[in-house]
Amino acid sequence: MTSTAAIKVLGLGGSLRDGSQSERALRIALAGAAEAGAETRAVTGGDLALPFYDAAEDRRSADAAALIEQVRTADGLIVVSPGYHGAMSGLVKNALDYVEDLRSDTRPYLHGRGVGLIAVAHGWQAAVTTLAQLRQVTHALRGWPTPLGGAVNTAEVKFDDAGGASEEKVFHNLRLIGRQVVEFGLAQRAL
Ligand SMILES: Cc1cc2nc3c(=O)[nH]c(=O)nc-3n(C[C@H](O)[C@H](O)[C@H](O)COP(=O)(O)O)c2cc1C
Repeated sequence: MTSTAAIKVLGLGGSLRDGSQSERALRIALAGAAEAGAETRAVTGGDLALPFYDAAEDRRSADAAALIEQVRTADGLIVVSPGYHGAMSGLVKNALDYVEDLRSDTRPYLHGRGVGLIAVAHGWQAAVTTLAQLRQVTHALRGWPTPLGGAVNTAEVKFDDAGGASEEKVFHNLRLIGRQVVEFGLAQRAL
């Protein structure tokens, strides 16, 4: 019997900065997923400030355990990172390192999950290299990057605190990424 439960989409990313542009981009993509029928959650900012991932340690902090459980139960993810020196931030990469704790699951790592990927930097070069890196990490984690990825240059577009963007096309593309995560989740469910 096919489940009629909503597809669960977990958003992960942003920075520790008040008014984080990457977190705002994430929230637009999550709104696109919600519009497509998903139940959405977000782990952002300070909630991502976890201890450095230690593969030799069995115990996890409460925040880390909660993050692992949210990834485990998600049907799809949206990961957004600022571009720091041409790469994803340490905050986001460390959170992704915790996906290692799903290695022995029946759905190991990001197996079977669509992953929307968005990089937000203050220039095109870092936006593009960070998006490529997010895709590489997603492949390594056995996830399925959505066809559309987001490379956002905050020198040219700004996100406001009401969930909007100064460029309609960017706003549309971020929402479409959220929608594609839901479409992939529904397709997986129908297998
Ligand atoms: C440590 C650090 C390194 C950065 N490196 C780059 C960079 O290499 N290229 C770039 O275009 N922007 C760079 N930026 C700018 C950020 O990518 C940009 O401001 C982004 O919007 C920050 O995300 P946030 O608004 O979510 O904090 C850097 C910012 C910081 C704090």
